[in-house]
Amino acid sequence: MRMIDLIEKKQHKEALTEEEIKWMIENYTSDTIPDYQMSAMAMAIYFNGMDQTERSAMTMAMVESGDQIDLSAIEGIKVDKHSTGGVGDTTTLVLAPLVASVGVPVAKMSGRGLGHTGGTIDKLEAVPGFHVELSQEEFIDLVNKNKVAVVGQSGNLTPADKKIYALRDVTGTVESIPLIASSIMSKKIAAGADAIVLDVKIGAGAFMKNEEQARELAETMVSIGQSVGRQTMAVISDMSQPLGNAIGNSLEIKEAIDTLKGEGPKDLTELCLVLGSQMAYLGGVGSTLEEARERLEENLKNGKALETFKTFIASQGGDASVADNPDEVMEQAKYEQDIKAQESGVVSEIGADQIGIAAMMLGAGRETKDSVLDMTAGLYLHKKVGDKVEAGETLVTAYSNKEISESIKEKVLNNIRISEHAEEPTLIYTIIK
Ligand code: URA
Ligand code: CA
Repeated sequence: MRMIDLIEKKQHKEALTEEEIKWMIENYTSDTIPDYQMSAMAMAIYFNGMDQTERSAMTMAMVESGDQIDLSAIEGIKVDKHSTGGVGDTTTLVLAPLVASVGVPVAKMSGRGLGHTGGTIDKLEAVPGFHVELSQEEFIDLVNKNKVAVVGQSGNLTPADKKIYALRDVTGTVESIPLIASSIMSKKIAAGADAIVLDVKIGAGAFMKNEEQARELAETMVSIGQSVGRQTMAVISDMSQPLGNAIGNSLEIKEAIDTLKGEGPKDLTELCLVLGSQMAYLGGVGSTLEEARERLEENLKNGKALETFKTFIASQGGDASVADNPDEVMEQAKYEQDIKAQESGVVSEIGADQIGIAAMMLGAGRETKDSVLDMTAGLYLHKKVGDKVEAGETLVTAYSNKEISESIKEKVLNNIRISEHAEEPTLIYTIIK
């Protein structure tokens, strides 16, 4: 086989065979195919797409390019969740213990954040003592015992995806639905999930800027999952404004605790119940999504979800009393500043991406891979889109261990629009199953 022939085939809108895709991914991973040929292929795929057989073959070839995590020693159906990136997206912190509390094993391999979106592991490390360095054996034992554990990414998972993603990043080929879908699905499958729930975000804080694109991405990922024997469902949800009220590591831990007590922000709670019912249902709880949701709602009310959170935190070395006294257990910011509305009206826009960048500048996120996080830093939104506000009322409180600059305050104010009228945005656009 020659790469040039495959490139020309794709250039002429012909489908590649499974064998050709496997050959291409194997030889690109082993550096036998050079970057310039793979770049040309990525561009041909960008323009001419891939059919379902090609997308599934691409996904599985990337899965097979590296290690695959074997979770077969965990009893039950292992359900994983993936979100396509967001600002202040506290869902994993809530979902892991919530779904575990109804008996579905959550064996979560998670990452750190870069740029304006936070990583789940960073957030968890805001709890003193909590660590994610677990051996494979400890990880499996904890999931069998508590139904939930979170471990840092380890091993050589999907090296083909790492190489191709880095290449796409510099060749203008990131925004290709078959490439995004196979990239995301390969990582979830290699991490050992039996079933997968996807949260595809739309809006300023997200990859997909409109509903049509988001739907196509979600449907593509669901069909890849089904075709390779992993039950998959997806939700398309709003990321035009940040989710919940808190953005920042310890602020989001506190928000997750409130939500697990049944006292969380409305949008965060609803999205967690929608995603959680899909996870629970795929994990075998309830005979419908509605029944699965009822079980989750019960555990938010009767304290079981919070109890599971405490057990989970304590089992990984964390101080579980954080659930009762978050402000005493977690470090508090040296500086705190209220940012006030300059006019009266209704909040009509909170630009998720720019607000996320402001939180990062306060210290909540990493500007480069080596940045050191300030766990106390972040923003708390007192108002969300659709809320009334009076001039002089606090819109946002900023927290940081370093002095809060005028330019950050300005950035926050410049990205919150106040108008005469505005409505609360739609939170859940579509459910794809
Ligand atoms: N996230 C991924 O993991 N892969 C992509 O290709 C795009 C977003
Ligand atoms: Ca949040």
